[in-house]
Amino acid sequence: MNLKQILDRYYRHIRPYRFLYGWAKDRATKVRCNARAAQWREKGFRGAKLDVCGGRNPFNPQEFLNVDAVDLPKVDLVFDITKKFPIDDGVIAEIISIATLEHLRKPHVHHVLREFFRVMRPGAPLRVSTPDVEAIAQAVLGGEDPDVFNQHLFGRYKSDQTEDYDVHRWMYTADQMIRVLTEIGFTHAKRIPMDIGMHDEKFTYLVSARKP
Ligand SMILES: C[S@@+](CC[C@H](N)C(=O)[O-])C[C@H]1O[C@@H](n2cnc3c(N)ncnc32)[C@H](O)[C@@H]1O
Repeated sequence: MNLKQILDRYYRHIRPYRFLYGWAKDRATKVRCNARAAQWREKGFRGAKLDVCGGRNPFNPQEFLNVDAVDLPKVDLVFDITKKFPIDDGVIAEIISIATLEHLRKPHVHHVLREFFRVMRPGAPLRVSTPDVEAIAQAVLGGEDPDVFNQHLFGRYKSDQTEDYDVHRWMYTADQMIRVLTEIGFTHAKRIPMDIGMHDEKFTYLVSARKP
């Protein structure tokens, strides 16, 4: 008898304990949900909006679920975005990700953008915001205060409290980001005004795109 036949034969005894499977899987992938995210998970996250890496500073938390690797009080769903997202294909209604991608290594940036594409449903909008490395370069050449441009370029290196998640690892210019998003399959990728009310608009860009 193979494993499937054994499971089929004893399924009626196993069935009451099937929640243990989800629990074990979540522990294995280190996914944690608060009550609000658990309700969305029950619905397969169909129609959910994600703020990917809202951390301590979530964007519009009434509307968006805050995803982060660190289990902070304002975080709804904890997982490492450099791994496969614990979300099915084509279910997410919208994603925004602010001050996130610059914390990842280049292959992880591409992985995360591909995961956005995979989990988003057709027509869903995406916004990504990261430091504008061209504006930072101009600030360096223009003699701007090093405390300002170093912060944008490297993250919180100037602090002795810096954690690994705080440092910057890779940045695309806005044009390069638009090209990468388009290569992945997003359409309508373009730079839009930095109107989200977070971060210094002089040193940060916002790009929007759409899953076709
Ligand atoms: C600079 S904060 C951005 C917070 C907020 N979005 C904002 O704009 O102020 C970056 C966040 O990315 C999270 N982060 C970094 N690497 C991550 C990873 N691999 N998986 C999930 N979250 C990650 C950090 O924990 C942190 O909360």
